[in-house]
Amino acid sequence: MNTILLNAQRDADLALAAGWLKAGKLVAVPTETVYGLAADASNPDAVSAIFTAKGRPANHPLIVHLPDKTAIGDWACNINTAAYALAEAFWPGPLTLLLHKAPQVNPVVTGGLTTVGLRVPSHPVLLKLLQQHQLALAAPSANLYKKLSPTSAAQVMVGLQGKITAVLDGGECQFGVESTIIDLTQTVPTIVRAGPITAAQIEAVLGRPVAQPRQHNVSVSGNVDAHYQPEKPLLCFSREELLLHLPQQKQPLALLHYTPFADYPGLTQLTMPTTVQAFAQRLYASLFKADQLAVSAIWCELPPDTDAWRAVNDRLSRASSQRR
Ligand code: TXA
Ligand code: MG
Repeated sequence: MNTILLNAQRDADLALAAGWLKAGKLVAVPTETVYGLAADASNPDAVSAIFTAKGRPANHPLIVHLPDKTAIGDWACNINTAAYALAEAFWPGPLTLLLHKAPQVNPVVTGGLTTVGLRVPSHPVLLKLLQQHQLALAAPSANLYKKLSPTSAAQVMVGLQGKITAVLDGGECQFGVESTIIDLTQTVPTIVRAGPITAAQIEAVLGRPVAQPRQHNVSVSGNVDAHYQPEKPLLCFSREELLLHLPQQKQPLALLHYTPFADYPGLTQLTMPTTVQAFAQRLYASLFKADQLAVSAIWCELPPDTDAWRAVNDRLSRASSQRR
């Protein structure tokens, strides 16, 4: 199969993408978080093909991307007021709600679970595709299982070229890390994946505390310890540790850093932004770039250990070969 690159700015290309999706094909689409590998969520064969293309285990559920919040009722049941309040506040946007699945939703979408993940994405191209063609798209991140999530069409191609029908190029993703996932089927709303929308923002809307356990049993594949991994070993260090270890390094290294470091032989510096939003937006692209260099390992300066940096620290921790 020759994967076709479509231009999201062209209406004719959007129409092609919609036609293929309705015909049960797989098309990678831009979202405001990362690129998604989309299939028509109401077509179980098309959804199954996502698992094959990614090499993802069949029991890892997918997020369903909806055209607007009125579609919640087609996919979920026993929807509580918290769900409506959060949808009102954060959709379209990078927040996924876990709700009880509606009986008609095929278990292939939910990995056999009785809950379903729903979100209305804010990327203008994807929103237009969903709304103009009245689609609901099941879409995990458009990477091979456990690999880095792509934030550009070129990165999608590296992993999925030849395995899917097309990639819709909508430029670089705005947020660069996956959506926040909140489980609303528990007594206390529980964040099961940190993301661009923080616990504090959610608490402000709900007017009550939410849980954000570091460990939980909810079946989130991003919750697998080793995830989002570059090919080269990634090691994370504080600035102090780096100042100690860098001068002694003999192997060629790539360093993602946001405070200044001197040059050392064999060291390629990839300077990261200092604000959390910009850092997150560049994170996967920088790891991807570091992976292409002739280095034997990637080192990263650890960001501050604060709530604002939680999503970034979570991804770094899962991407690294050695834990803090
Ligand atoms: O930003 C995002 O969420 C991106 C874009 C493409 O929308 N999607 C994404 O999908 O990151 P994926 O499949 O790579 O990660 C979604 C996570 C998975 O870990 C999956 O296990 C979890 O959400 N998930 C989906 N539905 C679930 C459910 N019903 N119960 C528990 N976890 C669920
Ligand atoms: Mg993923």
